[in-house]
Amino acid sequence: MDYFLGIDIGTSGTKTLLIDKRGNIVVSASAEYPLYQPNNGWAEQDPEDWWRAVKSTCAQVIKKSGISGSSIKGVGLSGQMHGLVMLDENNNVIRPSIIWCDQRTAAECAELESLVGKERLFEITANPALTGFTASKILWVRKHEKENYERCRHILLPKDYIRFRLTGEYATDVSDASGMQLLDVRNRRWSEEVLKKLSIDESMLPKVFESPDITGRVTGAASLVTGIPAGTPVVGGAGDNAASAVGTGIVKDGRAFVTIGTSGVLFAHTSQMKTDPLGRVHTFCCAVPGAWHVMGVTQAAGLSLQWLRNEACYPEVVEAKNSGEDPYVIMDEQAEKVPVGSDRLIYLPYLMGERTPHLDPDCRGVFFGLSAKHKRANLIRSVMEGVAFSLKDSQMIFEEMGIRLDEIAICGGGARSRLWSRILCDVYGIPLYTLTKTDGAAFGAAILAGVGAGAYRSVEAACGEMIARNRSFEPVRENNIRYQRFYRLYRELYSNLKGSFKRLGEL
Ligand code: XUL
Repeated sequence: MDYFLGIDIGTSGTKTLLIDKRGNIVVSASAEYPLYQPNNGWAEQDPEDWWRAVKSTCAQVIKKSGISGSSIKGVGLSGQMHGLVMLDENNNVIRPSIIWCDQRTAAECAELESLVGKERLFEITANPALTGFTASKILWVRKHEKENYERCRHILLPKDYIRFRLTGEYATDVSDASGMQLLDVRNRRWSEEVLKKLSIDESMLPKVFESPDITGRVTGAASLVTGIPAGTPVVGGAGDNAASAVGTGIVKDGRAFVTIGTSGVLFAHTSQMKTDPLGRVHTFCCAVPGAWHVMGVTQAAGLSLQWLRNEACYPEVVEAKNSGEDPYVIMDEQAEKVPVGSDRLIYLPYLMGERTPHLDPDCRGVFFGLSAKHKRANLIRSVMEGVAFSLKDSQMIFEEMGIRLDEIAICGGGARSRLWSRILCDVYGIPLYTLTKTDGAAFGAAILAGVGAGAYRSVEAACGEMIARNRSFEPVRENNIRYQRFYRLYRELYSNLKGSFKRLGEL
């Protein structure tokens, strides 16, 4: 039997899994690492921590599986997007990686727009200048750490640094490269124009491949420390969302997934490149060669419920401890007793500012309509509903862009809650389904390895064989109609409060 390895370099840790040709997950392992925040709004990680996690999870997976290394036919990589890794002429990491959620580059985003031209930047890279993306991070290092920039010979993304350690190659894939803001997203190659205007030498950038293409082979040295046989092909892989799309079978028009983890994402496949002229959702190349995806991001999705659990649901946490249950299951039971609309309580989930649709770092969370009759159960349900409204904002933008959603797969921690799945289904008014496998990105990376190794004729064919559905949800019409009325008011609240959020920040 042939096996494929998927490695996902996440923000809190790395997950490595081994699948067989039928898509069964044979074994998986994960390892965590720290996030450093040397200043307010900064976020950095040590690439050596990622490599340590990769070495230990690969070795564990191979040992636990009991299979002979020679039956591993391919490796796929996935990872947190946008992080900047800089290497010197001896391939040593120059400084900690500035990762996707770092917010230090507002001034460099303005510089980026003035150097390239705001409209031209959007036309070429399909997105407005964003602090999370890599290009502004490069400009920041060039401006604030001149010596580091002068020593820099190679720029890589997080998963591509791991590729370098595994294969010795400087390579990336089109989906992850899209998040650097240096790629001509329509033509799927580095943009000479953007690079020239930013005075960045293309020789510093990795070679760009489609996600299932073979980018290199595991070296003898990497084999010794990971257990993966020397010579095993490593495919392009994908950024974490594009890889999750493969892992959930979102590889055709009309297909989408919604995920609730710390943040929330609505992701849709599109075979034609489409952009939102207001830049409220991202357009990136996807892991299916020649296709793209659009995605909207809610910054505090699962984070909102986690915050409520930690700060206001002490009784549920205690009950959970006594009964051995998960506190979220008890919170679900409470919220289920509250009617649609939480007895006229509306939550705005802006605990961390917001990306889609507002691109506003200043907005903050709100409970609107609190009354003395509300109980904790109302707060719980309204948090779930508010996050669903925020994820509906992305659906509305996709509609404006002419992107069709026939049905939506739900994944991430939120998919474990039947209630949250039901709420999302009723808010969207579109059928929803869960999947039997929930390892999204790492699973998607392993599937891409299978395609690259020739076990499947295409990404679509591999997904068709390996992905199975679990539960299905059909929207309840009267709930959808009621939610539409609440959603209209939810939208008004941000417009009414926009100026007040700014003033609050200045107090
Ligand atoms: C995508 C994004 C996140 C990161 C971390 O634009 O910022 O999904 O990839 O998971």
